[in-house]
Amino acid sequence: MNTAIILAAGQGTRMRSKTPKVLHKVGGKYLLQHVIDASKESVGEINVIVGHNSELVKEAIIDSKINWVLQEEQLGTGHAVQQATPFIEDESICLILYSDVPLLKRTTIKQLINKANSSGFSLLSVLLEEPYGYGRIIRDSNGSIHSIVEQKDANQDQLKINEINTGIMAIKGSLLKKYLSELQPNNSQGEFYLTDIVEKAVKDNVNIASLICESDSEVMGINDKKQLSQAERAHQSSQAEELMSSGLTIMDPKRFDCRGKINFGNDCVVDINVIFEGNNDLGNNVVISPNCIIKDSKIGDNTHILPNSIIENASIGSNTSIGPFARIRPDTSIGNHSKIGNFVEIKKSNVQNNSKISHLSYIGDSKIGNDVNIGAGVITCNYDGSNKHQTEINDGAFIGSNSQLVAPVTIGENATIGAGSTITQNAPDNKLTLSRNKQSTIDKWKRPTKK
Ligand code: UD1
Ligand code: CA
Repeated sequence: MNTAIILAAGQGTRMRSKTPKVLHKVGGKYLLQHVIDASKESVGEINVIVGHNSELVKEAIIDSKINWVLQEEQLGTGHAVQQATPFIEDESICLILYSDVPLLKRTTIKQLINKANSSGFSLLSVLLEEPYGYGRIIRDSNGSIHSIVEQKDANQDQLKINEINTGIMAIKGSLLKKYLSELQPNNSQGEFYLTDIVEKAVKDNVNIASLICESDSEVMGINDKKQLSQAERAHQSSQAEELMSSGLTIMDPKRFDCRGKINFGNDCVVDINVIFEGNNDLGNNVVISPNCIIKDSKIGDNTHILPNSIIENASIGSNTSIGPFARIRPDTSIGNHSKIGNFVEIKKSNVQNNSKISHLSYIGDSKIGNDVNIGAGVITCNYDGSNKHQTEINDGAFIGSNSQLVAPVTIGENATIGAGSTITQNAPDNKLTLSRNKQSTIDKWKRPTKK
């Protein structure tokens, strides 16, 4: 079985962060997790070389395929790979990857392994207009790979070469172990360079197969926050392309973010500046208007989410309308043909079908039946300062505007609550209940005049 070695021991100083570099995220997923997921199908075991902050990294990333290997001192990329020597089998192909190169595709990994299967050693390079900082690929007069020269060790002619080493390679285990054991830190940085194995293989008459990567974003490394943001955009744009090619209408892929996964039916439309997080599921003909955040939620057929709404860990039925400016908080379910309007907040509640909560309400810890109409400014007073209590509003009830329902309380079927009531006891079915002072008028009252 093939194995992978992922280098993740570096400190990542240029990120200027207390979070280890590999635990920064692209598309809502840790950099290291991207690399693990991309390699998983191609290898049996994944050896992750960790050093700085290894405990934090191990805690964050749980995967049964990982074998954690500690590199106590960072003496170079060659030294890092040497730490995994006990886990490299002679006959298998060993794939070398970097935890800060998160956008590498599965298909590229597979091609690289196929090439190594026939030649014993394959190397992934890329052509860059600005090759500064990278190791250059040196080829001989036949065009075969001869060696790699690091930026700091290169001469003027070598610095002009645009083909650079991505560092990513696949090599037969026995060869890798042999060349690793011969590495010497004879270079300007005094490090054990993994790249030196190339020259050793060439001397050993191994014909190194090269794969030139078509897109440079796939092999871009992340060293600082600017590169992190570039990787994020590259990831979002390739993800948006995939979603559009499977039928999602995205109004502007440059203003689209999905930090997780979306499933969707036919003819769904996502307007600008929408953020999806976690796992989301859209039915058919769902429209998400601008500036919405949708997280871990399910939205049914023909439902329209109007602008500036936030929906989190909720299930919304079909033919329903939410927003604008609605906030649907976790553990909420809204039924079919319902309407949640502007400035309505709903938390941990179940609203059934054909019900309307149209303006400026807070509904928490509630069960609301079918055909209920909740007027503007209604509040369920669910918290007594220590505990949360339930409100139950049964089918067909009508709650007049600006009423407070002090939980625990139940409103009966087809009950009507007069506007402006504070309801502290259960209200019976089919009747009007109200708690409101009688209106009075003072005849001889005069407005004060200004002194
Ligand atoms: C390396 C390559 C260079 C290539 C470039 C691509 C070498 C000698 N050079 O250079 O040819 O163009 O990558 O980005 O291999 N790491 C460890 N332990 C160590 C040292 C590094 O785990 O002791 C890890 C780092 O965390 C990092 C990766 O290896 O993820 C690359 O190391 P870095 O020092 O950044 O290599 P470069 O100088 O960029
Ligand atoms: Ca370096």
